[in-house]
Amino acid sequence: MNLYLNGRFMPLEEGRVSVEDRGFQFGDGVYEVVRVYRGKPFRLEPHLRRLEQSCRGIEMGLPEPLERIAGVCRRLVEGHTEAQIYLQVTRGVAPRLHTFPKDAPPTFLAYSRPVTPPAPDRVYRLKVVMDDRWGRCHLKVICLLPNLLAKQKASEAGCDEGLFVRDDGFVTEGASSNAFFVRGGVLWTHPSGPRILNGVTRETVLEVAAACGVAVRQEALRLPDALAADEAFVTGTLAEIAPVVAIDGRPVGTGTPGPVTLGIQSAFRDLTRRECP
Ligand SMILES: Cc1ncc(COP(=O)(O)O)c(C=O)c1O
Repeated sequence: MNLYLNGRFMPLEEGRVSVEDRGFQFGDGVYEVVRVYRGKPFRLEPHLRRLEQSCRGIEMGLPEPLERIAGVCRRLVEGHTEAQIYLQVTRGVAPRLHTFPKDAPPTFLAYSRPVTPPAPDRVYRLKVVMDDRWGRCHLKVICLLPNLLAKQKASEAGCDEGLFVRDDGFVTEGASSNAFFVRGGVLWTHPSGPRILNGVTRETVLEVAAACGVAVRQEALRLPDALAADEAFVTGTLAEIAPVVAIDGRPVGTGTPGPVTLGIQSAFRDLTRRECP
């Protein structure tokens, strides 16, 4: 029973949603992805707080109280060790009209799937892509077309991730990750706000950096400064801390993961072991 759909647990293959669901027709919904280490969801509370913020941001109520959703998540991962939980809330099923339906209950689903943890020596190559997303990137909405197009462009260029750069020349984040750069021992990342999705992993890295004594500047960098960084890495719930070795075919620093990146990566793994023993 790894799917919870509108109040019922069932096998994932048995889940059915109407063709008139607003998530399907309009992308009118929000989502979360939570990582499960050793059977325990990591940082579940911040993920659920962000789900609530995303719902509020698109003027939609939460489908169930957060404590109940947390209970659903815990039940979905019973018997799993390394897994992810995907949660999605849409504005429900209604005849196709742009304006919000008056009485449609939201469609709420959550399911778990096993994950393969990233290999310890995995590195990323990035491709620069134009950040042509909307002005509310802090909301984790299911309309991900610009992100998909960026990721596809990166993949076609033999890269692992797209690096979004705005038309004013500032680097924002990855197509499905937050971006960090190390310059002279200081860690730089775009400030939280409407131009990026404030990652739960990003926030965790800021904590880890403080604990490791690494100075942080939450300030946007222009692309040439990012390209000249000594080290770079991107972060995400499933990607964790991925060292970046090249951007648009040019090596970052020495072209191998640097000491600050490796230190943060190792401290992050220790933290997941402490919180999910
Ligand atoms: C655009 C974007 N930025 C950042 C992230 C990283 O967020 P988190 O660390 O919460 O997974 C994601 C994750 O999906 C994302 O889609």
